Amino acid sequence: MLVLGIETSCDETGLAIYDSENGLLADELHSQIAVHQDYGGVVPELASRDHADRLLPLLKKLLESANKKLDDIDLVAYTAGPGLKGCLLVGSTFARSLAYVIDKPIISVNHVEAHLLAPFMEYEDLSFPFFGLLISGGHTMIIDAQSIGDYEIMGETLDDAVGEAFDKSAKLMGLDYPGGPLIEKLAKEGKHGRYKFPRPILNKPNCDFSFSGLKTHIMLTWKDSDKTEQVKKDISLELQNSVTDCLTGKLKRAHEIKGYPRIIISGGVSANQFIREKLNSFASSINAKAYYPTKKYCTDNGAMIAYAGYKKFEAGQIYDLDGEVKPRWPLDQLA
Ligand code: KG4
Ligand code: ZN
Repeated sequence: MLVLGIETSCDETGLAIYDSENGLLADELHSQIAVHQDYGGVVPELASRDHADRLLPLLKKLLESANKKLDDIDLVAYTAGPGLKGCLLVGSTFARSLAYVIDKPIISVNHVEAHLLAPFMEYEDLSFPFFGLLISGGHTMIIDAQSIGDYEIMGETLDDAVGEAFDKSAKLMGLDYPGGPLIEKLAKEGKHGRYKFPRPILNKPNCDFSFSGLKTHIMLTWKDSDKTEQVKKDISLELQNSVTDCLTGKLKRAHEIKGYPRIIISGGVSANQFIREKLNSFASSINAKAYYPTKKYCTDNGAMIAYAGYKKFEAGQIYDLDGEVKPRWPLDQLA
């Protein structure tokens, strides 16, 4: 079965073809970083327009590199939420039109579920149940994943997502969007000890997160500093340290509640090597294994949508949103 995946929930247009027999056949991605860079964040209207411009040319390229025709596609999978409404509507309209033209079934995919399932494409020893740690620009949550479609949110951010903390801190230090990768680079030359940042709500007896206070703390630190390149590096290092302590602390709590030996870590921030190394040692300390998608599948992409679409279809979990999109679509309210 050939599944076409379409991702347009935020600032990446992603298309991919997943073959249930042979795995991923082709994968195309257009990043809108250049579109939003001057604004320091994603501008929803510009994002929707760019998706509309990019989808058709990307589809042509995708079919060429997979050496397939549109008619070969057996199932169209698209992100129906969560995400920016206008962006989701562009993807949904495109997907529905294609499915109509080739007269094939269509399946709505939850973007967060797709991030969680993505590592199954690559790791053969992976199985349910597991903890999902989703850390991206829009989400920060710990998920108890029992089986496909059966998830409980154990904790989530009460305000900013981790990626947002990276992006906003970067912005106030005058760095480009998205800030996460730049912070990681700067942190490599940071010196320990100059600053001490808080670990918000780390001691609260739950699995929730909060990062807006950290961002405010960084803003004040930056304001009071002499704003040198070394200050940027030291702040970046301490931001990573604080975030990592919060992530490991709350995962530890989740593990005390349900002792799963597997943790899937996904979403854009999971591309961060420093965070990966810390989470890996944490996982070994509790006799668990941490699984990450390869870096290109950590951030938003069409491959994870095609794959999740296939797995959901195979499991008979076919949500028909009938053209509707869900800017908010909690993982524990899928059906
Ligand atoms: O998953 P994603 O592509 O989109 C959302 O669904 O949000 O994640 C994007 C986020 C951005 O906030 C970006 O700064 C962050 O992931 N990010 C990183 C790194 N690479 C991307 N954060 C920290 N370190 C990185 N290396
Ligand atoms: Zn995402």
